[in-house]
Amino acid sequence: MIILAVESSCDETAVSITRDGREVLADEIFSQVDIHKIYGGVVPEIASRNHIEIITRLAESALKKANITKENIDAIAVTYAPGLIGALLVGVNFAKSLAWALNKPLIPVHHIRGHIAANYIAYPELAPPFLCLVISGGHSQIIDVRDYTDMEIVGTTRDDAAGECFDKIARVLGLGYPGGAQMDRLAREEGGDDSKYTLPRASVSGSEYDMSFSGLKTAVINLIHNCEQKGEEIDKASLAASFAAAVSDTLVPRTMLAANNLSRERIAIAGGVAANSRIRADFESAAKLNGKTLYTPPLRLCGDNASMIGAQGYFEYLAGVRGNTGLNAFATLSI
Ligand code: KG4
Ligand code: ZN
Repeated sequence: MIILAVESSCDETAVSITRDGREVLADEIFSQVDIHKIYGGVVPEIASRNHIEIITRLAESALKKANITKENIDAIAVTYAPGLIGALLVGVNFAKSLAWALNKPLIPVHHIRGHIAANYIAYPELAPPFLCLVISGGHSQIIDVRDYTDMEIVGTTRDDAAGECFDKIARVLGLGYPGGAQMDRLAREEGGDDSKYTLPRASVSGSEYDMSFSGLKTAVINLIHNCEQKGEEIDKASLAASFAAAVSDTLVPRTMLAANNLSRERIAIAGGVAANSRIRADFESAAKLNGKTLYTPPLRLCGDNASMIGAQGYFEYLAGVRGNTGLNAFATLSI
């Protein structure tokens, strides 16, 4: 089954052609990062306008690269939640129009479900049940994937998402937007010492799987301001390494604990922050120690893309999920 999938929830416009939820025939992506960089973050209105300008050309290009025509498409999948509402509406309206014009089924896909499904492309043998940690710019959730379309959030951040903190600290350090990858590169390539700065690891009382990052974020920002006031130079690479260690120390043990308690033998990670080298390395050690099989999608499948929407769209289709011309977008929506 061939699916054309559309993703426009934030600052990436993406269109893919996938087969049977596992195989990528074309994966087109236009990142608006350079457009939003000068503002230090995504400007929703500008994101929507740019999605509108490029989406048709991306779809045409995806069809060309997959060497098919629109008549060969069996269904159209689209991210309808969560995300920037104007940005989502561009993709949803494009997908609705295409589905209507071609008289093909429309499949609404939840963005976070899509991130999880990136693992189905990277690992064709992977099937539920498994536990997945989704760490992105807006979400940090430990999700029990009982089946392709049956999942439950077992742990979540009570305040900021991990990616949000990476981006905020990168901005204070003057590393630009989006800062997660820059922080990672700095810690890795500039020999950052992860024990140079002592940073807090918060826990949420009464909730062993939930996380909190806002105290850590504030501690790092205060540390930077204190150094500035005293005229001390900040060792940016070591601060980036110490910060990644603190985030990883929050994410990895909770995910492992949940996997052990729920008797899940397989653990996957997903979302933009899953590209972080420290977090990946810590997961690899912990998985080995706990005798779990770990799934870490390649970096290009961690960040936003449309192939993951095509992958999840296939399983949503099999489960009977359909949209119609009344399909709306939602800025927030639980998985
Ligand atoms: O999943 P994603 O592409 O978009 C959302 O759905 O939010 O995630 C974007 C987030 C940003 O906060 C970005 O800074 C972060 O992922 N990120 C990283 C790395 N690469 C991207 N954070 C830490 N280390 C990285 N290597
Ligand atoms: Zn995302």
